[in-house]
Amino acid sequence: MAKLTVINRAGEEQSIEAGEGLTVMEIIRDNGFDELLALCGGCCSCATCHVYVDDSFSGELPGVSADENDLLDSSDHRTAQSRLSCQITFNAALDGLRVTIAPED
Ligand code: FES
Repeated sequence: MAKLTVINRAGEEQSIEAGEGLTVMEIIRDNGFDELLALCGGCCSCATCHVYVDDSFSGELPGVSADENDLLDSSDHRTAQSRLSCQITFNAALDGLRVTIAPED
């Protein structure tokens, strides 16, 4: 199965199995990372699923929608690598993706 590497806010890295068709948020949440709150459940309305995505996969990611862009703008911790993990559906091309959970706003 494909792998997703998650780095938590303490800097600890964990490689987890990632099912295709789930969002990166769902994969992280379902593997017990309770610091990713994902309060809206993936409706793109809370920004508590904010992660930083490894640059090397930027060409494989879906584009940023206007709603996602607005929500990311509301974060004090937005960087060029910022994405909302509920807006990235995992697929085989993302095998080996590394994401870092962003600081809490
Ligand atoms: S879970 Fe709320 S925006 Fe992603």
